Amino acid sequence: MSLSVILENVVRTYNGETVLGPFTHTFEAGTTTLIMGPNGCGKSTLLRVCAMLEAPDAGSIRFTDAGNELQQDLALRRRMTLVFPKTTVFRGSVFDNAAYGLRIRGANAPFVSERVEEALVSVGLIHKVRQDARTLSSGESQRLGIARALALKPDVLFLDEPTASVDEEHTAFIEDLIMALDRQTATTIIMTTHDRHQAEKIAGRLVAMRRGVVVEDFCPLRNPSV
Ligand SMILES: Nc1ncnc2c1ncn2[C@@H]1O[C@H](COP(=O)(O)OP(=O)(O)OP(=O)(O)O)[C@@H](O)[C@H]1O
Ligand SMILES: [Mg+2]
Repeated sequence: MSLSVILENVVRTYNGETVLGPFTHTFEAGTTTLIMGPNGCGKSTLLRVCAMLEAPDAGSIRFTDAGNELQQDLALRRRMTLVFPKTTVFRGSVFDNAAYGLRIRGANAPFVSERVEEALVSVGLIHKVRQDARTLSSGESQRLGIARALALKPDVLFLDEPTASVDEEHTAFIEDLIMALDRQTATTIIMTTHDRHQAEKIAGRLVAMRRGVVVEDFCPLRNPSV
């Protein structure tokens, strides 16, 4: 199970102003793509459109699995997860927060426990499992948002500046986690960052944007998997 996301001349406008596009790009199944570009250039908008949270105003977006085009329904939407830069923390424990997505999908308790514990270990939050999630620090909350997504094992993982408020040590931790996901799973990862060094370190492919369009698209040489 592996998804490609194919955009052709996708345009998104707000109040008559084009903030994205025309954007043409294929995010290949099982690859990691890093998106860079200045504030307001359309990175988060791109992620929301790709994750089916917003429809484009023009152009087409398609999703394929082993060459077969998929119907754009709830089942497809549930194969994708977007982690926002600021995690919404709900009332309840860290465990409950990380379990949220699995529980709304009706997963049974032992399955939820196994997935959530694995996800919390991978972001270095297992020692906080019983803590009230609203008392986490901002960096811990951001890692909780990543754990909530990882627990779902999505086929496409969108990460919007996942290390923006995370310290150096845990940033390295999250970067390692993303590189391991890249190597060991078929997950398609699409991530934004403002850190060029980070982008070149973990990207299979790096896309730079300006004013809603692609201005650079290459495979960084430093990536050992390329
Ligand atoms: N719902 C909205 N209504 C009106 N304008 C919007 C809306 N969402 C985004 N925009 C505008 O679209 C542009 C692109 O925003 P977007 O959040 O995609 O940028 P970004 O590249 O993610 O920036 P940053 O690096 O600051 O996160 C910005 O000018 C923003 O103000
Ligand atoms: Mg953004």
